[in-house]
Amino acid sequence: MDMQELKEAIFSLKKKKNAVILGHYYQRDEIQEISDYIGDSLALAREAERCEADIIVFCGVHFMAETAKILNPTRKVLLPDMAAGCSLADSCPADAFKAFKEAHPGYMVISYINCSAEIKALSDLICTSGNAEKLIRSLPEDQKIIFAPDKNLGGYINSVTGRNMLLWDGVCMVHDAMRAERAIQLKKEYPEALMIAHPECNAALLQVADFIGSTKAMLSFIQNSDAKQFIVATESGILWEMKRNNPDKEFIVINPEDNKNCNCVDCSYMKLNTLEKLYRCLDDEQPEIVMSPEMIDKARKPIERMLEMSKKLGIIK
Ligand code: 13P
Ligand code: SF4
Repeated sequence: MDMQELKEAIFSLKKKKNAVILGHYYQRDEIQEISDYIGDSLALAREAERCEADIIVFCGVHFMAETAKILNPTRKVLLPDMAAGCSLADSCPADAFKAFKEAHPGYMVISYINCSAEIKALSDLICTSGNAEKLIRSLPEDQKIIFAPDKNLGGYINSVTGRNMLLWDGVCMVHDAMRAERAIQLKKEYPEALMIAHPECNAALLQVADFIGSTKAMLSFIQNSDAKQFIVATESGILWEMKRNNPDKEFIVINPEDNKNCNCVDCSYMKLNTLEKLYRCLDDEQPEIVMSPEMIDKARKPIERMLEMSKKLGIIK
């Protein structure tokens, strides 16, 4: 089947099976194009929670599909490629994290949503890049906090809030690899451009950014800015939504000077999902996210707390 035939076949299977496709902003363009909802991890978690379709096909990575299952366990949740993992989630194995937590009694455990269900089950509160700062600011000043798994996001929040959260030593291989030196070079090449960065980037790079924010916050920033050029320090899939909403603006990705056509700003896990795999997974209703009711129950509590707090703080409706 060619791409058009695949899209039509997916559309008719989706109708026949009462399925919905949730797509993350980092997915391939053609997948974002065919998704019923596109969003960041917070918006997609919210969509999954209130989804009434029988099947959720989650076009994103494993921890996102798992979160959808946790929030809406009676739905069948499919992930087009089970190997679509996350280096950040992998940097925090449950056994080691449990020992770390036990070594620090009295600490509240806040985990970024980019972690496994086991880590969620060991956490008091989950956050995303879209709500982390506000959630943490709303906690008592003297609250002792362990933040996992992303030391870059945690370090950034420590720097803007003056907190001293204890950080787990994990990073996202895509964002952490973007270099401040290259960003400075690009700023010289494009003196009118504003540089926007995801807080998963390393501290040196964040220091030279004009705006730091979640995927959604970056999109709003561009929309509301008069600037015409943006240097983008995040995963390249986001360019599809950026260009769609701002056809008159130019976006420059932070690729290395000596290899301008590399795919280093692509998340190889996110890109594992293809139209072909999406079609097959809808047809076969496989691979499916399967979890024990006990794990769903334990992991749901800190996610529900995040959603409740986010509603109270006016971050989501
Ligand atoms: P968002 O929370 O902005 O959707 O980011 C998810 C992610 O995987 C970032 O690398
Ligand atoms: Fe994980 Fe990084 Fe890929 Fe996001 S971009 S899914 S944090 S590896």
